[in-house]
Amino acid sequence: MKKLSLIIVLVTTINSNTISGKKVFETYCWGCHHQSAVAFAPPFTEIASKRSAEEIRAMISDPKSVSKVFGYKRNAMPSFKLKEDELEAITKYILSFKPKDNNTTKVDSNVSVK
Ligand code: HEC
Repeated sequence: MKKLSLIIVLVTTINSNTISGKKVFETYCWGCHHQSAVAFAPPFTEIASKRSAEEIRAMISDPKSVSKVFGYKRNAMPSFKLKEDELEAITKYILSFKPKDNNTTKVDSNVSVK
């Protein structure tokens, strides 16, 4: 029993120290970007299918110059000063929407069917 509670404590500590990409998305990006639907800005599914982790990171840190490189005529995305772990988390989160080669649609595990 003692062992079990130690494991529980460990797991909770790890979780609370990990910044979730979804949280970063909801804090900074939601409103302009949506995971899979076209909103004001391109959806993460589209971004993930054509950009690398480096490109995504560059865009978040310096959208003014990077959006030109990406071919956008106007830059409407503000720049974000994210912490390294937030940047890491949001980049991974965006790339998790990369469509699979076998054409199966990714099911959002956070959507619960009521
Ligand atoms: C105020 C609205 C707005 C917010 C907030 C915003 N974006 Fe954007 N984003 C845009 C627009 C508009 C574009 C299209 C390019 C441009 O305008 O510079 C874009 C483009 C991008 C691209 C490149 C798209 C491509 O062609 O690959 C990435 C990556 C991106 N956004 C990530 C993010 C992330 C991550 C956040 C949150 C930290 C965020 N954006 C927040 C509006 C926004």
